[in-house]
Amino acid sequence: MKLTLPISLRTFCLGTTLALAAVLAGCKPPSGDAPASGDKAGTKSLTVGFAQVGAESSWRTAETKSIQDEAEKRGVKLKFSDAQGKQENQIKAVRGFIAQGVDAIILAPVVETGWEPVLREAKQAKIPVVLVDRGVKVEDESLFATLIASDFVAEGRMAAEWLVKKTEGKAQIIELQGTPGAAPANDRKRGFEEGIKASPEMKIIASQSGDFTRTGGKQVTEALLKVHSGATVIYAHNDDMAIGAIQALEEAGKKPGSDVIVLSIDGVKGAFEAMVAGKLNCTVECSPLLGGMAFDAVEKAKAGTAMEKKTVVPDRVFDQSTAKDELPNRKY
Ligand code: AHR
Repeated sequence: MKLTLPISLRTFCLGTTLALAAVLAGCKPPSGDAPASGDKAGTKSLTVGFAQVGAESSWRTAETKSIQDEAEKRGVKLKFSDAQGKQENQIKAVRGFIAQGVDAIILAPVVETGWEPVLREAKQAKIPVVLVDRGVKVEDESLFATLIASDFVAEGRMAAEWLVKKTEGKAQIIELQGTPGAAPANDRKRGFEEGIKASPEMKIIASQSGDFTRTGGKQVTEALLKVHSGATVIYAHNDDMAIGAIQALEEAGKKPGSDVIVLSIDGVKGAFEAMVAGKLNCTVECSPLLGGMAFDAVEKAKAGTAMEKKTVVPDRVFDQSTAKDELPNRKY
């Protein structure tokens, strides 16, 4: 059956078809062309996999948001995976990203060791891996493009130096460690031990993992206080564990911040609020706002531009004397 359209409709259809063809032609640049105008630094069409540790702390949630926001800002398609604190989940996620042929992978590794095989697979597939916040121990450093992170050893040392001054070199310390095997747990322990070494009357009387979580910090503190009721200091490898410890101290009838000095690392808003309330004494900042730097590195890796193997994010120390003024400025 032959369908006859009125002239006005035929003109409309022809016009629409031509317009559509023009739009499609504009959308698809011929291969080898520069990115379409409006792309920010040419990342619009990139697909990036982000293998995140989990959501164990408020710091971690802030890091996730920073990376997601930046991806959106740059028009990058982000594939997100939450490993729930398990390395095997993260390895699976990275393999999944490789199978999907992503342009690059951002990895915040749960622990330091055990990454060679999967990083080698990514390298063979020519997919650059940008490490954020935590490093890995590998013999061949060409397995990753770059690492963007704080200096965790320096953070531990800064916490110790603050404490030595505050206590005049005398303390019975309970240490709440982060996730066993994680770079910040290993390094913050080492830095802190180095920082108190010259003070023989500063002793770590107990040290246990609270897994970087608030619940972990609370439970471990409850248990350790029963055995070490004479503890004068709690040093936590992150703010969330310190906030859990503060709850445990209060429930045990002690005044955190005065009966027992509490110090930690991260600099999240909750830590500043606790300092203003007089319950936390000190926090060493560790910025989770790594999105901008992470995608700059992805772009450089894709463009084959040389970059440093490690970019150290600078940190600062805050205590109750500076907390109130700083609180309104906190972005995480
Ligand atoms: O790797 C950074 C650490 O991991 C943060 O200190 C902590 O809060 C997080 O879970």
